[in-house]
Parts: sequence; C-alpha cells; structure tokens
Amino acid sequence: MFKQFFGFLRKKNNDKIKGAEVDRLTNEVDRKKLPRHIAIIMDGNGRWALRRGMSRSFGHRAGVESLRDIVKVCSELEVQILTVYAFSTENWKRPREEVNILMDLLVEYFNREIEELDENRVRVNPIGRLQELPPAAIRALKMAAERTCSNDGLILNVAFNYGGRQELVDTVRSVVADVLNGTLSAADIEEQAISERLYTAGQPDPDLLIRPAGDLRLSNFLLWQLAYTEFCISPVMWPDFRRIDLIKAILDFQRRERRFGGLK
Ligand code: IPE
Ligand code: IPE
Ligand code: MG
Repeated sequence: MFKQFFGFLRKKNNDKIKGAEVDRLTNEVDRKKLPRHIAIIMDGNGRWALRRGMSRSFGHRAGVESLRDIVKVCSELEVQILTVYAFSTENWKRPREEVNILMDLLVEYFNREIEELDENRVRVNPIGRLQELPPAAIRALKMAAERTCSNDGLILNVAFNYGGRQELVDTVRSVVADVLNGTLSAADIEEQAISERLYTAGQPDPDLLIRPAGDLRLSNFLLWQLAYTEFCISPVMWPDFRRIDLIKAILDFQRRERRFGGLK
C-alpha cells in the first residue's frame, strides 16, 4: 500500500521534471529558423512491441499515438509541411495479417482524428500509389483530403503505398506523356520539369528528415526531395517518440550549417 503510494508520488514528480525539461527545450527553439518542411520515417513499431513481449500490431497501434502528438506539435510550432512515411511500396512483402492491420489502422486513424485535424486547420495530402490500395483505405484518404482541402494550417503529407523510385517512374511517365502530346519539348526538360511533376509538386523540399529507431538508410523515401536535407537519426522507437524528441531534433537541426555545395 505504502509502496504503491510512494510509487505514485515518484511518478508524479518525474512527470513534473520531464514537463519542465520539455518547456525549457521548447523555449530554446529559434522560431525564426524553424524547418519549413519536416519528413519522418515512422520506424521501430515492431521492435518496440517485441521488446515488450507484445505482437507487432500492438506496436503499430502505439505508433498512432506518436503521430497524433507530433502532428499537434508541428501545428503549434507553425511548421508548414510534415511528411510522414506510413507504408512503403515494399511493405507489401510483410505477412498479410500485418498488412491488413496497417490498412485498418489508417482507416481508424482518419475516422477518429479527422474532426480534430480539421479543427486545427491541418490539410491532409496523401502521397503514393493510392489506386493500388484496398477500397476502404482509398476512401479514408480521399475523405480526409477532401474534408481538409481548404485548410490553411499544417500540410500533412501522408506517404502511404509510397516509394521514391515509383514516384520517379510516375514522374518520368508524365514527362514523356507531355513530350508526346507536344506541351513540353525535350530540350525544356530541366530540374523543374521533374520537381513540378512529383507527388510533392509546389512544396519546398524537406529541411529536416527524422528517422526514429536508429537505422541508417532511406528505405526508398523521397529520393529526389532529400538531396540537401539535414538528417537526424534518433535511437528512440517511433511509439516512444514524443514532443521532446521532436524538439531535440529541431534544436539539432538549428545547430547545423547548411552549405548547399557553396562555402560558409
Ligand atoms: C514502422 O515500424 C511501420 C511500418 C513500416 C509500417 P516497423 O514495423 O518497420 O518496425 P520495425 O522496424 O520492425 O521495428
Ligand atoms: C520504412 O521502414 C517504411 C516506413 C516506416 C513506412 P521499413 O521498416 O519498411 O524499412 P526497412 O525495411 O527496415 O528498410
Ligand atoms: Mg522498420
């Protein structure tokens, strides 16, 4: 009984200390030098769950809570664009039950969150080969995009059935189609002809890429757009990734010197 009571007090005290740390770090963020566009590879759900003796799907479910939190923080900070990698074109290789759970979670997420996203003026923008998804997933993504299309807050790019190479293939197809129909001449194919046909057309490239769970690879994410992005690899697993981890990544980003091939 006593033990429980003191445990409760200790937890309350720890939460207070943690809260103060979050506030302190948040105050250190230079609001004038925020990344305009943050991209996140939401990785580590499976490992997080297995370490707790739970199923991978438990980890995916927990990861949704991190997404809620991070979207909220990005909105508050007035970051312009957040791109989250939720399902890659290679993730179809996973067992069917896991794929089904990821599809269900997508639908559940939008059913549960759309109201609040809309209230916070978030604009949902799905990116990826949506046409290959099951009908319920397509409906959820389209509903979220349509409902929020006139919002002027954070743009939330949801990369679902997204692959960087597939995006480039789709872009090349669109370039070739325009050359064939005469609206674009082969001599006019410059960088801009590519970038304005990507799924992220019209958006600035990510300034900051965050990969939780520690792996040092891109896993087919935004291959074109990440050319000069600053990388922040966090050891924290996505289901544990919260406000404080995002703030730390932003502070790390703000200490970098970006040269874009030039000199200081
Ligand atoms: C990321 O977590 C979620 C998706 C890829 C959909 P993982 O499921 O890849 O988790 P790990 O990398 O196996 O820990
Ligand atoms: C990248 O993570 C895809 C998403 C987070 C959606 P993976 O877990 O699929 O990447 P690999 O297989 O470890 O490279
Ligand atoms: Mg993974």
